[in-house]
This record gives sequence, structure tokens and C-alpha cells, in this order.
Amino acid sequence: MRLQKYLAHAGVASRRKAEDFIVAGHVRVNGTVVRELGRVVDESDRVELAGKRVALPARHRYVVLHKPAGVMTTMRDPAGRRTVAALVSPGGGRVVPVGRLDYDTSGVLLLTNDGELAHVLTHPRYGVEKTYRAVVRGRLQGEDVKRFLAGMRLDGSRSSPAKIRVVRAGSASSELDITIHEGRNRQVRRMFDATDHPVLSLVRLRFGPIALGDLRVGTSRDATEKELAELRALRRSVDAEDDDA
Ligand code: URA
Repeated sequence: MRLQKYLAHAGVASRRKAEDFIVAGHVRVNGTVVRELGRVVDESDRVELAGKRVALPARHRYVVLHKPAGVMTTMRDPAGRRTVAALVSPGGGRVVPVGRLDYDTSGVLLLTNDGELAHVLTHPRYGVEKTYRAVVRGRLQGEDVKRFLAGMRLDGSRSSPAKIRVVRAGSASSELDITIHEGRNRQVRRMFDATDHPVLSLVRLRFGPIALGDLRVGTSRDATEKELAELRALRRSVDAEDDDA
């Protein structure tokens, strides 16, 4: 692309302003000042504005996978078990999972090469909500539900309150939707263990704005623009709170 377009694309100036910078001799390509506006450059060129490297934003990839149970949430397993890497097409750039689902848990898993967004989505302060459908042994009593709503002790510290909704209650097993915004290791399983209703199966239905919907198990899709806009908005809202403080 033309140099002025490159600079505008990189977000350092409008195209008009970039042209001014070029003509004024502030732009170097591969170490040499370039004053001609027609010069064509690409990612392999080193472009500098006033001595500072100007890079195009990385092309990010956001993949939503319906992880099956019996698959490791990692791109490589030294023990040779099945990993999510085998379920995501290698074209379009290397991605890594955002957070983790247990080996036995299925459901929605986001994978990306956008490290900054991945950090935000897994950091507890951003409180991304995750909803799971749990089939558990037995029928929960009112007291059990209250423990979820109040938060319960795990690892010697109190978990945040969870939202819980009974989908089906039976004496042998029950189905519940549970929403948490923490990401402690095996948190949902441990919460149900603590109430003596062990999890028989666990599916993540939602990760922030990304819903599992009818995505078939073992298949993936690109995140939609709407989902990505909501994920980014989440980061902006927390950052804005910081600015207000
Ligand atoms: N909580 C669990 O117990 N397991 C998961 O995979 C995710 C949350």
C-alpha cells in the first residue's frame, strides 16, 4: 500500500496529515528518508515517523469453539492427549485458548491471538460472566441455593456470589444454570461438591457476550462483530472507571 495509507492505517495520523509528514521529510523507510507520496510499502518494510517505528495493527483472529468433553484446553499436550488445537483450523493465524475448561467440561471456548484482550477476559477485575449448565446428583435444597447466592469458602477464601437457576429438579439428579465471574480452578465442580451434589456433567453455555447457541460439538466459528464489540466495550468500561477514580 502507499506510504500515506500505511501511516493512516497504523493510526498515527490522518492520510492528509501523513502526506504532510512525508513531504516534510519526517518519514523513513528502511532507514532512508522518503519524500515521495507514491512510495509503496508493506509489513516487511521498516517504517519510521520522527524516528519511531510505525507498525500496522496485527491481524487478530477470534475463534469460538464448542469444546467437547475429553479434550485438553491447550494447544499441545506433552502426554499426547487430544487438544483443542486439532479442532481449530491452522489457517488465519495461531490462536491460544482464553482461560480454560476442564478436560471433562464441554462448551463455549474462545481462542485468539489478541493477547491484550485475552488478558482482560481472564483477569478477575473485569469480571466476565460465565454461565454453565450443570447436571448434579440429587436435588438442591433452599439452604444449598443460599450458599451459592452468598458465596462459599473455597481454598480458605470466599468465592463471589453466584447466580443460580433451577432448570429441572429431580431426586436422582437435577439441572441448574450457574453464573460466576471468577475463574478459579474447577470452581463450579468444587462449589457443587461443597453442597454434596457432585457434578455429573458440565457445559459452558456462555462466556461474556458469546453464547454457545447451536454450534455443534467439536466445531468452531469466527466470533461475530457484535460479540467482539461487546468484549472490547467491557474493557473500555473498566478502564473508564479507573480514569474516574
Ligand atoms: N468450573 C469447573 O469446575 N470446570 C470448568 O471447566 C469451568 C468452571
